Amino acid sequence: GGLAPAATVDLDRDQVLGVLEAVWRRGDSALEKSLYGHAAAVTAKYCGGGVYYRGLVEFSNICQNDCSYCGIRNNQKDVYRYTMTEEEVVEVAKWALENGIRNIMLQSGELHTEQRLEYLERIVRAIRKETVELDLARRAVAACGDGSLAAPSADAAIKNPEAEDELGVAVSLSVGELPYEHYERLFKAGARRYLIRIETSNPDLYAALHPPPLSWSHRVDCLRALKKIGYMLGTGVMVGLPGQTLRDLAGDVVFFKQERADMIGMGPFITQDGTPATRVWTDLYPAVDKNAHMKSMFELTTAMNALVRITMGNVNISATTAMQAIIPTGREIALERGANVVMPILTPTKYRESYQLYEGKPCITDTAVQCRRCLDMRLASVGKASAAGVWGDPASYLHP
Ligand code: 5AD
Repeated sequence: GGLAPAATVDLDRDQVLGVLEAVWRRGDSALEKSLYGHAAAVTAKYCGGGVYYRGLVEFSNICQNDCSYCGIRNNQKDVYRYTMTEEEVVEVAKWALENGIRNIMLQSGELHTEQRLEYLERIVRAIRKETVELDLARRAVAACGDGSLAAPSADAAIKNPEAEDELGVAVSLSVGELPYEHYERLFKAGARRYLIRIETSNPDLYAALHPPPLSWSHRVDCLRALKKIGYMLGTGVMVGLPGQTLRDLAGDVVFFKQERADMIGMGPFITQDGTPATRVWTDLYPAVDKNAHMKSMFELTTAMNALVRITMGNVNISATTAMQAIIPTGREIALERGANVVMPILTPTKYRESYQLYEGKPCITDTAVQCRRCLDMRLASVGKASAAGVWGDPASYLHP
């Protein structure tokens, strides 16, 4: 009572759990309606109808970790391992700029070598420099008519943080747990956002899924280090991991707020042949109807998105590709229930089938052009459009 329609609400873990239980049981359509209606109102307040695109470039599937759910884990058999060349990655970034996508996410398996670090530093620097130059050249042409002289140089623009604002393509990284100095060097090279899912806020469940040397507390240290260095922090979880409870999921929502995440990405856990987690899942739930189960996980994931939107307000929430793996219009539905970001896959087609984290991953035979157009149509189908030409920083980062 007395609550402004688009106000954020502070929910504790038990209150979040209560909502998740109702969604899980289904049948309470009034509650679902008001949950999703409220989430949509808060989303409209902070994001309008605009949706931000983040172009995803899966530049390498080589990984030294062995996360038990993942299709590119170190011990997964029959995976052709690739790493894109520096030129290929930079070309994709320039294509993104030409196509109104001002934000790209470079993602890969985890590899801690100095060689990999230097490769990434060079790529980040090259993307920033070349896309800022392209932008300045375009502005110079546009300014010709009103008598202004040459535009400032790209070097000057990059060195001056004010001038750098909204120029070129912003670079985000999603390359796992790295030493603090590596995070610092990549920030210096020009990366400004970093995605690293906590996967689950329950340390015991985390330990069951991630063999040593991975540990939950080290993962949390990484999140905090990234935030301290000044990155916009993205994190998230999977929904429906074998052994996960609704109480765990309620804890996830609280965790995101506690760690002051700027971006959240969540998706249902999806089985993948040849992974230990899939064997555990099949043993744990021998009797479930898998289709019905995945639909429930989809509903729970959208409820999680809505709860994050309602409790955190001005963060960026991604309608993830895994949502579309369950329901063909899954990403559109997520955008109506609190999400405001979609990530068109820009990875060159020839590499896509080797980046199969889970079964049925969509868009595996598509090109970047197709992914871009397809998402434009999907947004239009729910009355939304991409906020092209802007970086789309989450307000949580600009006004912490
Ligand atoms: N099902 C769903 N999501 C998965 N991821 C990895 N494997 C799976 C799977 N089997 C997610 C993880 C990781 C992100 C890149 O992909 O959450 O952080």
